[in-house]
Amino acid sequence: MTLLMKSLRIFANQCRNCTTKSTPSIEFTASTVNIDGRKFSRDKWTNVTPNILKHLNRNLHLKPGHPLCLLRENIISFMYKSFPNRAGNPIFSIYDRLDPIVTTKKNFDSLLIPDDHPSRKPSDCYYLNKDFILRGHTSAHQEELIASGLDSFVVMGDVYRRDEIDASHFPVFHQAEGVRLFAKHQIFDDEKQSAELFEDGKRTPLKQEYHTEITSKKLQHDLKTCLTKLVHHLFGTDVETRWTETYFPFTHPSFELEVKFQDKWLELLGCGVIEQQILYNAGVPDKVGWAFGLGLERIAMRLYEIPDIRLFWSNDTGFLSQFEGATPDKKIKYKAVSQYPQCFNDVSFWLPEGGINPSDLYEIVRGVGGDIVEQVRLVDEFVHPKNKKRSQCYRIIYRHMERTLNQAEVNEVHKRIEGQLTSELGVTIR
Ligand code: DAH
Repeated sequence: MTLLMKSLRIFANQCRNCTTKSTPSIEFTASTVNIDGRKFSRDKWTNVTPNILKHLNRNLHLKPGHPLCLLRENIISFMYKSFPNRAGNPIFSIYDRLDPIVTTKKNFDSLLIPDDHPSRKPSDCYYLNKDFILRGHTSAHQEELIASGLDSFVVMGDVYRRDEIDASHFPVFHQAEGVRLFAKHQIFDDEKQSAELFEDGKRTPLKQEYHTEITSKKLQHDLKTCLTKLVHHLFGTDVETRWTETYFPFTHPSFELEVKFQDKWLELLGCGVIEQQILYNAGVPDKVGWAFGLGLERIAMRLYEIPDIRLFWSNDTGFLSQFEGATPDKKIKYKAVSQYPQCFNDVSFWLPEGGINPSDLYEIVRGVGGDIVEQVRLVDEFVHPKNKKRSQCYRIIYRHMERTLNQAEVNEVHKRIEGQLTSELGVTIR
């Protein structure tokens, strides 16, 4: 298969997971699990549940205005800006719609994860059957993308791991995976052309047996520089960071980057020099490279001060409206949403000549309603065909932090708001 055909196949694969479809069709029969028309035969490995499968098409990372989507856009903008080619175009390509149902080969074998590795245990992941799994990490796509001819890419998407559920654990979360490959001339600048990428040497804590020491050093340096810059881009240059050494089956040497938050070191990402065997298997023996993987929720929780990982799955407009319309670089500090139900009332009026300034309206609504006003949004607008007067309708969403509001008290506040809008802004309530 040509490189172009391989890339097109991956591109086509990307589009299959349509972003607009929210609930997958799921059916469990005695012998199969059927998901959106695809049939997976059941065997003794099958441990997916309808409850976990219903997260499949949520695609929070692609949902405009969702904090995970803002973070995705922020990381993409960093990668695009930091790595231009000579013509000024980004060298990294982004794959954020790849199907989360992958073969166990991709999820484990392609990454040299040994047969007895704990991450393969059915108690740790969600198998459709012996051959298919809900990906446990975005690394699952490394080998196929490398084999398709790509040198620099980022994969983002939902990953699935059986885990307890609490404020910081949820069985579905999101990761970003970055890979960058280098040919010899990209590692050694002109004066070092005599240096070698490869040797038939020994594996040491500093390098793989295939790499010369200088190759490994250069890769580690480039990797650490990129990730330190990314963390500074996200959290500001004041944030304290440290590197620790670790083990992953797919990289050597391997590292974790930790960041200090409120006096505690938090592990933010894993990374390392890609095992050369993976590149051999992918058909690119003449290149070397680095890879990293990071959890989006972990970062977004610190960035936006979101205290509970379960909130990302919330459909509550009290949560979502805090991020709506924001740009990826906007500083947002999440404010707790009440657990009590919302109540809403609409206010419709004719505008005075010359219109009104919406910020004056927000001011009045918040001034009168105080803390029980959670959201104010323009829901309708039209011009009368005859007299050309403009009408607007705002929806005011009320919610109390400590108790359930009753409609009568909301109506009373709402009436006062209407009164002030009339007297101060000159609108005519309809
Ligand atoms: N896949 C790893 C995980 O989910 C994260 C990771 C570590 C990805 C190191 C990488 C890497 O690409 O090089 O825990």
